[in-house]
Order: sequence, then structure tokens, then C-alpha cells
Amino acid sequence: MDTYLIKGGKKLNGSVTISGAKNAALPIIVASLLAEGTTVLHNVPNLKDIQTILKVIECLGASYEFNTEHNTLKIHVNSLKNAEVPYDLVKTMRASIYVMGPLLARCGEADVSLPGGCAIGERPVDIHLSGFEALGSTITIEHGYIKARVQKLQGNRFIMRKVSVGATANIMMAAVLADGQTILENCAMEPDVVDLGNFLIKMGAKIQGLGTERIIITGVKKLKPVTYSIIPDRIEAGTFLIAGAITRGNITINNVIPEHFQACINTLSEMGFVISGGDSSVTIEPSKKLQGSMIRTLPYPGFPTDLQAPIMALMCTIPGISVIIETIFENRYTHVGELRRMGADIEIEGNVAVVKGGKQLQAAPVLMSDLRAGASLVLAALAAKGQTEIRRIYHTDRGYENFEQKLQSLGADIQRVKGGKP
Ligand code: UD1
Repeated sequence: MDTYLIKGGKKLNGSVTISGAKNAALPIIVASLLAEGTTVLHNVPNLKDIQTILKVIECLGASYEFNTEHNTLKIHVNSLKNAEVPYDLVKTMRASIYVMGPLLARCGEADVSLPGGCAIGERPVDIHLSGFEALGSTITIEHGYIKARVQKLQGNRFIMRKVSVGATANIMMAAVLADGQTILENCAMEPDVVDLGNFLIKMGAKIQGLGTERIIITGVKKLKPVTYSIIPDRIEAGTFLIAGAITRGNITINNVIPEHFQACINTLSEMGFVISGGDSSVTIEPSKKLQGSMIRTLPYPGFPTDLQAPIMALMCTIPGISVIIETIFENRYTHVGELRRMGADIEIEGNVAVVKGGKQLQAAPVLMSDLRAGASLVLAALAAKGQTEIRRIYHTDRGYENFEQKLQSLGADIQRVKGGKP
């Protein structure tokens, strides 16, 4: 297992190019299964999660060529077979459940291992399944597998009991080839869902209302393969802005859509950082007067839960009190114990975290518990005094492309030690 060694205290300076969005690429790769022929995707990040979803679509009959140097992925799809998506793949990446929508649409059957809970909470998939039922499928759970069957999907009206990125994407992928009209209510408005919708529209799907709470889909008989470019990763963008902020450096992130992480920009501005930028770049600079802030994680366009752990590391270094209310996942404070080991003063009461900031963080051996918790520890280490050793960095490998290379190019002292301690 690889380890990071980070010597903190260096200001990051310079510019960095943000990669394609993992959470848009995952459903879009799966949606390519909806059309026979060759789909070409640009700006696909070379990440562990992407390699995992490629294994998943391969086991359903697709083949692919991934040019990782140019981030271009070609996916070849002919007939599709419903093969069981094994637990080993689903347990490493919950997004494997995305194959259910396309499999039901094209084969009328889907057998996928039921994902268990994970480090950040229980994470049920009931909304995905009720959506497929609303479109006429029968669902049973047998020996840990979800088995969905349908003769032909039928359009229907479905109200999601909670805003869910995954369920909105999955049900949309099923409904595009259903008979008649589907009206989805209480939809996720995340840019990743909109990007998937735009990809489906380019393939020939009829979808209205993307980026709103109500999406209306009129089923079509067939979709065609297309060439498409994935949007930039707003969570990676936010993470690098926070890396600039926590080291009080001056950095510019390129190839971004600032509107997609406006909530993060607003919070950093409230804290006193000076943010400027153009259509596709954002620059962050420190200011003399910094102050604590309060955030509440919410569905888009609110503050994203995926930036909660990263911004908490920053809050530890800002004078005054900061408060976080995590409303999306019930167990998303696993980084707190590790940040405390680095000298942070954080109190947790239920889903509320109170950070007493202005502390000089100190190096300590720490463990990543999930992807974004891992990013938070890397950020804390960049600001800490001494050399921090971070273990289980396979978590950040899942979601940050060339993480250490990008940080090094900004002046960070970070090294990957191969085969470090578990
Ligand atoms: C996606 C993102 C993840 C992000 C999350 C919230 C991907 C691959 N992952 O995850 O990085 O943290 O959105 O922005 O895109 N829920 C249910 N039943 C369901 C589905 C969800 O109760 O059937 C609950 C979840 O437990 C959670 C909330 O709804 O409390 C939101 O989850 P959801 O938006 O579905 O997250 P994911 O799509 O899994």
C-alpha cells in the first residue's frame, strides 16, 4: 500500500489544470451502453474509479480503448448481456449500480450486487429501485443481489422521496428508452446529472428540465453513439482552491466552470480570501484579515458534501469559530479524529461540527478513511509543521488524477512512497 510523505509549510503558487469530472464520467461511460456502436469520450480522468467502471461494462459485453495520455476513451458496444455485476466490483465502487438503468432499458433484466453501507453512512439504494418499479420493473433481492425484471419499461410519474444524484441519473438512463413519457420530480440538479442528460440528448434522447427539480423524458426507440467531452471536476477544483487557501498561496485553477462550485467560492470569499477569475479559470489569493465561516452541506447548488472534509481542514487554520452542518450523509466526519491527531480543535455534536480555528497544525501519522476525508488530510498536511505520513492513499487515487504531481507543480513537498505501511 502506498503512503504519502508531506512536508508542510510551503505556500503553493502557480497554476494547475483541473481534470474531467469523475462523477459525470462514471454515469456517462455506463450510458454509452444504451447505443450500439462506438462512443468517444474526451476529458475522461484516469482514476481508479474509472478503471473499475470500465471493468464493469466489460463484463456486460462492451470493449474499450482508454488513451490515458490524452484522456480519450473509446467504448465499443454491440449486443449487451445481463451478466451479474459481482460484489467485488460493487463493494469497491457503489456507482456500479448505474448499470441497472441501461441494462433494464436494453435487456429487460439486471442483476447487480446490493451495495452495503460504506464509510460515510448507510447509503441505501431504495430510491433507484422504487424508480425502476414505477417504470414497471419487478425487483427482488436474492442472496445479496438485486434482480430487476421488466418486459418493456413504461413511462410514469415518479417523485423521489429525497434528492439523490445517483437515483436521478439511473432512472433517467432507464426512462430514455421506455415507452411514453416519464416525469421525475424532486430531481438532483448537480452538474454531473446535467452533463449525463446532455450526453443522452446528443445520443438522441428527448429530455426537458435538466438542472431543475422536474425532468421530463419522452422515450425513444433507439439511441446513437456520439462523441462527447466530460465537464471539469468541480470537487477537484474546490480542493485545489482550498490547497491555495490553506497554504496562504496564490494559485490559479484552469479548465473550470466557476458557476459549478460557486458555493465554495462564496465560502472562501466570506473567510476573506480574494478570488478573481474569468470564464474558465479562478485565482485565489490570501488577505490579511481572515475569519471563520459557517456552512451547511446541501444538494446542488448548495455547498457540496464532497468539499465538507477539505474545507474543515482549512477552517482549522483560520482564526475564530467555524461551524459545519452535514445534512447529506450521516457519518461523514471520519476525518475529524485524524485532524485532531494533527492538533485540530473540533467538537462534534450529531451532524454539527464546531471548529476552533487559528491552530498551527502539526505533522502526525494519519489514515485516510475515504476519498474526501483523504483529501482533507493531504490539505491539512500541506499546512502542518513537520512531515506528515498519510496511509491508505488508495482512497485519493480513486478520485484525484495525478494528485501529487499537480501539487508538486504548485510547489508542494509531497512524495508517494511505494509499498508503504498498511
Ligand atoms: C453522489 C456522488 C458523491 C456525493 C453524493 C452527494 C457519484 C458517483 N457520487 O453519490 O460523491 O457525495 O452524490 O452529492 O456521483 N439516498 C437514499 N436512497 C437512495 C439514494 C440515496 O436514501 O436510493 C440518500 C443517501 O444515503 C444520501 C442522500 O440520499 O443521504 C444523497 O445521496 P445521493 O445523492 O444518491 O449520493 P450518490 O449518488 O450515492
